[in-house]
Amino acid sequence: MEEKLEYTPGPVVRKTGQLYDNPEKEVEKIKFTIDGREVTAVKGMSVLEAARLAGIEIPSLCYLRHINETGSCRVCLVEVEVKGTKTLQASCVYPASEGLVVHTTSPRVRRVRKTMVELLLSDHHRECTTCIRNLNCELQNLADSLGIRNIKYTGEMKNLEVQNENPYIVRDYNKCIKCRRCEAICSKVQEINVYSALYRNYDTIIAPAFGQDLSRVACIACGQCVLACPTGSLVEKECIESVWEALEDPDKFVVVQTAPSIQVTLGEEFGFPVGSVVTGKLVAALQRLGFDRVFATDFTADLTVMEEAHELLERLEGRGKLPLLTSCCPGWVKFAEHFYPEYLENLSTCKSPHEMFGALAKTYFARKEGINPEKIVVVAVMPCTAKKFEAARREMGTGQYKDVDWVLTTRELARMIRQADISFPDLQEEEYDSPMGTSSGAGAIFGSTGGVLEAAVRTAYYLTTGEEADLPDYEELRGFSGLKEAEVFLKGRKLKLAIAHGTGNARVLLERIRAGESFDFVEIMACPGGCVGGGGQPIYGSRERKVVSLDYRHNRADALGRIDASKTLRRAHENPDVLRLYKEFLGQPLGELSRKLLHTSYTPRGKLPVFQFGELKGKQGGQAAENIPQV
Ligand code: SF4
Ligand code: SF4
Ligand code: SF4
Ligand code: FES
Repeated sequence: MEEKLEYTPGPVVRKTGQLYDNPEKEVEKIKFTIDGREVTAVKGMSVLEAARLAGIEIPSLCYLRHINETGSCRVCLVEVEVKGTKTLQASCVYPASEGLVVHTTSPRVRRVRKTMVELLLSDHHRECTTCIRNLNCELQNLADSLGIRNIKYTGEMKNLEVQNENPYIVRDYNKCIKCRRCEAICSKVQEINVYSALYRNYDTIIAPAFGQDLSRVACIACGQCVLACPTGSLVEKECIESVWEALEDPDKFVVVQTAPSIQVTLGEEFGFPVGSVVTGKLVAALQRLGFDRVFATDFTADLTVMEEAHELLERLEGRGKLPLLTSCCPGWVKFAEHFYPEYLENLSTCKSPHEMFGALAKTYFARKEGINPEKIVVVAVMPCTAKKFEAARREMGTGQYKDVDWVLTTRELARMIRQADISFPDLQEEEYDSPMGTSSGAGAIFGSTGGVLEAAVRTAYYLTTGEEADLPDYEELRGFSGLKEAEVFLKGRKLKLAIAHGTGNARVLLERIRAGESFDFVEIMACPGGCVGGGGQPIYGSRERKVVSLDYRHNRADALGRIDASKTLRRAHENPDVLRLYKEFLGQPLGELSRKLLHTSYTPRGKLPVFQFGELKGKQGGQAAENIPQV
């Protein structure tokens, strides 16, 4: 029987705008031998790819399939035998061919591989016990699996300055192994081109232009480079200690909100399979950590839908520019500010859901509960490094206070849970608090590509027709194609919808719009897959990717779809707590108070800006009280 060969040609990033294209393709099969075993491969595959397909492990470090195939680290060396002559070759770039004989674990291979990793470690700041990536570092794992106990070489330790001027990513050149995975993801997938190699020989660093901090170049803060980095050279800027301080301060009332996608990703940090829904345990963990109230950002995702659906209808009536571009992703907003400032008027003026939540926590919630807003600290658990940037934006506050005080990534929350010695799998499930914890299925699907637009269309359909949309009609909006398009009819008018995820795909779409193609409503998320693939989510190294699904974002998105499908409340306009909020406090969507608290404006930034942030940095507490009615 012929061996079944599953081969995915991989992402076609630029030409079609399809990040996850998987076209049926005629393939020419070849046979060759790895460690005495005959394997079947497809002509054009590398030896490494063919070996992995056959279930044979070869370690790698710089390699990212179809994204970074540069052969630079030499960790994947194998012996290749051609006509009786054995040579060492980097298997990630050496093509598999008919009749080839490959040895992956010969004494020579093991010795040389070990030497390569020892050389990488020779000038590496080996601060494993205090490094954020301790126990989740590909270099550390390799050193362990290769049995490195002594490093024979002493490299020059450069002690370069750690860059942490910006509020979202810390860059430590002393832990960089120059694999260039960050550069590849930033240039080939996100198409931002922040990183390149500077200087020569031993002085080489992979850095933004002129070695500047990320805040001084056109970085969009998406954190995809952090996900790609195998070491602790690129990490999120932690704010765990500040959150502990707030929790320990008896004068503070600490409110936490969790983004929709956290309920399907946090479990991975504690050994749950990818795509596990752990909502109840997430709430229980936050209660155990000592937060005074645990709320869901899904609630303000529903609120965003209400505001944005009304904004869409307003623009369709000729009041405002079309297409309406979604604004709930701060990475995409920053991208637009840098690269497409001419479309800033098309961006929805809605703040992102976690900022709306912060504004309401310090006004609506404070008054409803009789808490002095000065005492309220808002913590947001987000999938995202860009939301750390967003929370520091000067626009994100009312009066003199920030909407959101601290943003924790999924990974940071997991660290806090471990620091508190909480056994996450054993937690009894709990429910979100009221009045900002109820959410519809529409709020949940915000966490993956297509979800925001689908949720808004459900509500816009109801607002114009008085009928509920037939939900399965929106299947075209789901899935992981880099660009998706659909049409819906509202009151007999045909609306053209488009969705892009990953800023490389966003460029393709925006160039089409620039060239004159017309759309009515467009969703863009900066991260591939949307927030399920966010820069603050659990990180998988090349070793783990073999035991989890090859593209774990799909499993996470499916899990959000299951949450949506399991809810009786599917549409934002049915959320009773949102309706109460309008009745008791905001008045109406796009009303005066809504515009004051829930909407914002944008700033063209240029391509090489000097970003100024943090005017509100360090200040916590409530909104300015003027013009905010009593509940
Ligand atoms: S955060 Fe995003 S835009 Fe900035 S350097 Fe990293 S990948 Fe590039
Ligand atoms: S920062 Fe990380 S991903 Fe980038 S070159 Fe250095 S080690 Fe590789
Ligand atoms: S897609 Fe989600 S995780 Fe990524 S930058 Fe946007 S909001 Fe953050
Ligand atoms: S050279 Fe192949 S993984 Fe680095």
